[in-house]
Amino acid sequence: MNSKRDIVVLGIETSCDETAAAVVRSNGEVLSDVIESQVAAHAPYGGIVPELASRDHLRNVRPVIEAALRAAQVTLGDLDGIAVTARPGLAGALHVGAQAALGLGFGRDLPVVGVDHLVGHLCAAYLQYPGHAVQPPETPFLALLVSGGHTALYRVDELNAAGIRELGATRDDAAGEAYDKVGKLLGLGYPGGPVIDQLAHQGDASRFELPRPMSRKDSLEFSFSGLKTNVARYVEQHGRPQDRQTLCDLCAAFQERVVLTLVKKSLVALERERLSTWVLGGGVAANKGLRTAAAAAAAQRGARLVVPIPRACTDNAAMIAFCGALRLQAGENHGLSLEVSPYTELPQTTRKGRGARGAPGPGTP
Ligand code: KG4
Ligand code: ZN
Repeated sequence: MNSKRDIVVLGIETSCDETAAAVVRSNGEVLSDVIESQVAAHAPYGGIVPELASRDHLRNVRPVIEAALRAAQVTLGDLDGIAVTARPGLAGALHVGAQAALGLGFGRDLPVVGVDHLVGHLCAAYLQYPGHAVQPPETPFLALLVSGGHTALYRVDELNAAGIRELGATRDDAAGEAYDKVGKLLGLGYPGGPVIDQLAHQGDASRFELPRPMSRKDSLEFSFSGLKTNVARYVEQHGRPQDRQTLCDLCAAFQERVVLTLVKKSLVALERERLSTWVLGGGVAANKGLRTAAAAAAAQRGARLVVPIPRACTDNAAMIAFCGALRLQAGENHGLSLEVSPYTELPQTTRKGRGARGAPGPGTP
């Protein structure tokens, strides 16, 4: 990769509820990273409304791209290519980003590559933000991807779909989804993750008996819906905690179970795959409890942990731009044949729901 010509790439991300654009060099240097969140628009509904998302992306995509170019002090003429999230995500939302990328690419005769959002999250570990230089991870490594839509452990030999193998994923809710559902149950608004993270730090986890999700030691699969159901049952029986300390204690207990599971299964995977580098990615990797527990576990095991800065864990376009830079350097150009899809291109081996363990499941977004 180092021997290749350094290039400058515009990244565009519209797969879910953030309209984002960024300019990144192929060495990982982030020249700009602009994120326009739609959280306020969806908050009254307690979750993402796809139609609203598409409309908001349409309104925001152009100003966000212009802001990213301005902040990076570059013009379209300085770019070597454009990368856009093409999958997985909300189809209508993805189309907005893809059309913007194609329009610019066609108009300026620039190559355009579609990027898988999940591979993008893994690429966040390579980003060099001003004042936050990181030693990028070397392949092969173990990746724990924990977001609102996905939770999985991957063996990464190369940063493309062919070089990434799923070792285990969730059979039901993603970790972020569990955070958001518990947040809703406790009346904490959407998204629940950051609020629960904050409250958990003022709580005592030992005050609540909650099950440890998927505690079977040898399995690399996750399941968070039972834990969420336990919180729901508590709320049914006792109502939402009325005093702040009880609320903090319940959040602390929930968070402890999630974090413990994520860390334990990662350690099993590191051991099984004989890997010594461990990368975290996805919105839940912004969680303070997880970051602290993972750092302690990695130090104890003598493994190298690479965690992007919190801003790069949640959805952003810098990770998409970097991922696209790798594709462009490899000579890819999807141009007008670019297609969007609600499904990831990463192979999925964990069956969702009650089917046999390890059997391939239907493609899930
Ligand atoms: O990666 P992301 O921005 O979007 C997806 O690709 O899904 O992840 C969003 C998820 C949400 O479920 C949100 O609640 C969760 O990440 N999240 C957190 C934290 N910050 C964001 N979960 C736990 N603790 C946090 N600090
Ligand atoms: Zn994401």
